Amino acid sequence: MLPADHPVILGIESSCDDTAAAVVADGRLRSTVTSSQHIHTQFGGVVPELASRTHQQIIVPVVHRALEEADASRADLDAVAVTYGPGLAGSLLVGLSFAKAYAFGLGIPLIGVNHLEGHIYSVFLNDSPPTFPFLCLVVSGGHTQIVLVEDGFEHLVLGRTRDDAAGEAFDKVAKLLDLDYPGGPAIDRLAKAGDPTFHAFPRSRPGGYDFSFSGLKTSVLYYLNEFDTAERAALLQEHLPDLSASFQQAIVDVLIDTLRRAVAETSVDHVAIVGGVSANSALRRAAEELARETRTELHVPAPEHCVDNAAMIAMTGRFRLAAGRTSPLTLTAEPNLKLG
Ligand code: KG4
Ligand code: ZN
Repeated sequence: MLPADHPVILGIESSCDDTAAAVVADGRLRSTVTSSQHIHTQFGGVVPELASRTHQQIIVPVVHRALEEADASRADLDAVAVTYGPGLAGSLLVGLSFAKAYAFGLGIPLIGVNHLEGHIYSVFLNDSPPTFPFLCLVVSGGHTQIVLVEDGFEHLVLGRTRDDAAGEAFDKVAKLLDLDYPGGPAIDRLAKAGDPTFHAFPRSRPGGYDFSFSGLKTSVLYYLNEFDTAERAALLQEHLPDLSASFQQAIVDVLIDTLRRAVAETSVDHVAIVGGVSANSALRRAAEELARETRTELHVPAPEHCVDNAAMIAMTGRFRLAAGRTSPLTLTAEPNLKLG
C-alpha cells in the first residue's frame, strides 16, 4: 500500500516507439515500465502505423505492470499524467485516449505533459535535483535545444537546431556505417575503442545558440563516397571505431561549446543535459569537464531516464498537479507541440 497523504501519479508515455507507464508517489519514483518496439529495427527507423498499433496492443498490460510494481491499485491514484505532444499523431493518440478514459473513469485529474518538458523534468528523478533557474540542453532523436528553465513552467528557448536533431544525426550516420537503428548507442559503444582525431569532420556553428547537424551527416556521406565498394568495406572493417569516434567528437564539441557560451551569458549555477543523446558517454564526460571549468552543478539523468520513459512524465505531472495545472478532458494530441 502507498502512503495515502501524498499524491500518487500515473505517468503514461507513447509519443514514439516506446510504450511506457510509471508511478510517482510522495515525490519519489515507485515503478517504471518501458516496452520498446524492436519491430522497427528491421526497417531502419520507426514506422508510424506499426508503432501506434503496437501501443494499442500493449498499453493495458504496461500500465497494469507499473501499478503492480508500485504496489498500487487504481483507487490509490490521484492523477494521470500523459504526453500529448510532440510526437507521432497515431502514437500520441493511443496514450492520450487511454489516459483520458482512465482519468474520467476514476474521477481524477488529467495532466497533459509536453514530452520535452518531461525530458527537462527527468533530472528531478535524481537524488539531488537542480534549483531554478537552470540551463538545460535537450538532446533527443527529434529535438536539440538549449532552454533556460524557470520555476512555474517558464521555458525560454535560447537556441535550437535549424535542421537535424543530434540524435537524428547519430541515427542517420549509423545507417551510413551499416549499423542498426537506433544508431546512437552503437556509435557510442564503438567510439570507446576509436581515435576521435582520425578524421576532422566539420563543426557547424550557424549563429547564436542554434545548431545545425545536416552538414555533418552529409560530410560523412561524402567522405565514404570517396572510396569504391571494396575500399569502403576495408575502411569500415579496419576503422569503424575511429570513424564513430571522429563523428561523435564533432557533435560533442558543438554541443558543449554552445552550452559553454550559454552558461557564461546566463550566469546560472545549475546545468542539465537531458534526452536520449544525454546517455552518450563522451557527451557526459565533456559535460562533467564543462561543469568543473564553469563551477556549475551538472545534472544528468540516470541512463534509463535519458531515453523515452514514463517516469519523467509522472514526475512532471507531480509538479503540474502541485501548481494546479491540470488539463480538460477535451485535450487533443499535438504532434508539433513546442516548448515555451
Ligand atoms: O529521447 P529519445 O529516447 O527519443 C526522442 O524523444 O527522440 O532519444 C532517442 C535518440 C535516438 O536518436 C538515439 O540514437 C539517441 O537518442 N541515443 C544516443 C544514445 N542513446 C540514445 N545517442 C548517442 N549516444 C547514446 N548513448
Ligand atoms: Zn524523447
